[in-house]
Parts: sequence; structure tokens; C-alpha cells
Amino acid sequence: MPKFTIVKETGSTNDDVLTLGRQGAAHGTALLALSQRQGRGRLGRSWYSPTGIGLYGSVLLRPHIARESYPRLTLVAGVAAATAIETQTGLSPRLKWPNDLYLDGKKCGGILTEAVFAGDGDYAVVGIGVNLGAFSGTPPEEFQYKTGALWQAMRPPHHAEFLFAVIHEQLLTLVSEYENHGLAGILRQWRRRDGFYGQQMAWAGPNGVKIIGESAGIDEAGDLLLVDEERCLHIINCGEVQPAAV
Ligand code: BTN
Repeated sequence: MPKFTIVKETGSTNDDVLTLGRQGAAHGTALLALSQRQGRGRLGRSWYSPTGIGLYGSVLLRPHIARESYPRLTLVAGVAAATAIETQTGLSPRLKWPNDLYLDGKKCGGILTEAVFAGDGDYAVVGIGVNLGAFSGTPPEEFQYKTGALWQAMRPPHHAEFLFAVIHEQLLTLVSEYENHGLAGILRQWRRRDGFYGQQMAWAGPNGVKIIGESAGIDEAGDLLLVDEERCLHIINCGEVQPAAV
């Protein structure tokens, strides 16, 4: 199994691994923190990261893929995380485009991919957060009601270190599959885990644009397809979608 570093606490593992990337660290370098003070989510959100209830890890990738393909690493990481969780717990998380893991209709994990296109070598940092356990304190309200966790199925040695080791290994395996054989096989796995196919989804895009449509899954580029009520097809490649209130 590839090695990684574990720290008790940090600001954000993504920030730390971005720094390592800038310093020239190798493909596959990874960091797991037992807690984060400033865990970050997508779209400027924060990621609640106290000790003992979550997995907070980041992996440095220097993939041999085109720059415009970097956003697909989020889909690759989603498949890696869901597969690892299934292997370790028997639970089968569903995926929500582009970066969420769901259990029982609640978000239980997320991926934050950050790319750096540098003259002397491009790289990406893939950050993975998974809710593992029950809380000892009182979590923020939004967290209490909206969050799914794996704790029901977590038995020793299914703690963060062990699960992250499997996610890390899966991710590196899938990235080399992507490099050598393309994305098609990975997208097939993603579609098998798609938790929102056929559901009404709402997309909020830049400048207040809103689209509501039925999810037709992802296309061969990994973009999300939404079909609105006028049967117009929308190809979504940025932002995020949420189940539409019906
Ligand atoms: C999201 O759902 O918005 C993505 C959440 C990603 C959280 C992880 S925890 C490890 C890594 N470090 C961070 O600061 N964020 C990611």
C-alpha cells in the first residue's frame, strides 16, 4: 500500500498538500489529519473537521492528462472513495455530481479538487472528507440534520487511517487506469453509483441562472445532463446541483 503522513491537527490538508506540490513533492504524496481548523469545502464553504468523527485527507496528483480534463479527477476520486468505503464497511455510498457521497439520502462525504497549472509542472490536490462517526459534542445545526455518516457500519479497524489507506490506493489505481485506458471504465463505475439518475435536480449557475431538469446521468466527458420540462437538454460542467423541491 502507498504510504502517507498522519498529523494530529492542521489548518487544511488541501493547503498543506498544495504547499508540498509547490515544493516538488511526488505524485501520490498524501496527508491525513485527525482534525482540521480550517477545513474547506467546494464553492467557498467550510468543512466541519473535529477530532474523532471524520476522515480528512488529501492526495497530490501529477496525472498525465490534459489540463481541461483535471475537473474529471473529482469523479475519479468519488468512485475511489465510494469503492473503498464499500470494501471496508459493506455500505454502498451513492454519488451526486460532481463531488458528493451520499448514504440514506444524506451527504456523508465530499471531494475538493484544486488544480495548479504551473510552468514547471501541473498538479492537482484531491481532498476527501468523510463523516465517520457519532458526535461527542453538539455539531452545527446544518450538520446534525443533513449529514449521513458511516458509524453504524464502522467496526475496528475501520478507523480513518485504515479507510484513507484504501481510498489512497484506489485513487492512485484509478488515476493510472485513466492515464492508460481513458475515462470510459471509470465513468461506467460512476454511473453504477449515481444516486440521482432520473431525479429532478436544480442547478444554480453563474449570474443567477437556474435550471431545473431531470437528471439523465453523465455523458462521456463526465458532464451532467439535465432535461428540462420542455425536453431541452442542458450539459452542466460547473457549479453544483441539488435535488429540486417538488
Ligand atoms: C465538499 O463537499 O464541498 C468537499 C469537502 C472536502 C473536504 C476535505 S477534508 C480534507 C480536505 N481538506 C480540506 O480543507 N478540504 C478537503
